[in-house]
Amino acid sequence: MTISGKTEVYGILGYPVKHSLSPVFQNVAFEYLGIDAVYVPFEVKPEKLKHAVDGLSALGVRGVNVTLPHKEKILEYVDQMDEHTVSIGSANTLKFTNLIEAYNTDWTGFLKALNEAEIKEKTALVLGAGGTSRAILYALKKAEYDIYLWNRTYEKAVELSKKFQAHVVKKPEDVLKKVSLIVNTTSVGLKMDDPHLFDYSQIEQSHTVFDVIYRETPLLRKAKDKGAKAIDGLSMLLYQGIESFKIWTGFEVPFEVVKDALVESTSLL
Ligand code: ATR
Repeated sequence: MTISGKTEVYGILGYPVKHSLSPVFQNVAFEYLGIDAVYVPFEVKPEKLKHAVDGLSALGVRGVNVTLPHKEKILEYVDQMDEHTVSIGSANTLKFTNLIEAYNTDWTGFLKALNEAEIKEKTALVLGAGGTSRAILYALKKAEYDIYLWNRTYEKAVELSKKFQAHVVKKPEDVLKKVSLIVNTTSVGLKMDDPHLFDYSQIEQSHTVFDVIYRETPLLRKAKDKGAKAIDGLSMLLYQGIESFKIWTGFEVPFEVVKDALVESTSLL
């Protein structure tokens, strides 16, 4: 990569951000399309978020992804947002023009990744009621799913269910037989010895199990053992990135190009 006076700057805002995989594949996307741009990590503490956004705008940075813990707070500092971002209540993409525009591509990323599976009945159980859950509930609603929602803190599930017309459940096990799709949106499973969210032995072959975590979790492992379809969060990560890239540049990079970039550069897969 050659940096010149014309090189445009993109990046990702997060805290922490050192482990983000986005710089790996977004830089490959720019290279693949011959666009003179770089994509760099910006580690921004929550109390510095407003300064960071103003600074990026002043410096002429073209666009950034936004990740934890800034996805909701960032909306206070933008000039406009699309209708999906308003409904979800969080953004993962900013585009700097003469305005600061906010978008959410997590929900479309999720739906595209879900295309890998053939799901017979549009019934889903969503585990978790945090920021990621909101984008996924929005996506499932758009795709006309009947949604069951479980969360460790019951009240948060009740609150969220009103917005997305989901049925709140006290125990995941109560609805496993009713759903085709199970989605884990929590961070449980990041560590292999994390507690289980429910009795995983009750997963059936007919289930599709989607985990937003980027690699095989105990939940996904059990799903595979049971002969169920198991999808990790890597495709969702790539699809949301492809969509952000399209918002910034107008170009769509092929999925295989960014996937290969990740596979090559990480020992994750
Ligand atoms: P994100 O934006 O990634 O969704 P978040 O907004 O902090 O992160 O939400 C984290 C989600 O993971 C919540 O649903 C949280 O449950 P609570 O609302 O009860 O806190 C869930 N979560 C985190 N650790 C958990 C655990 N050990 N068991 C069950 N759920 C857990």
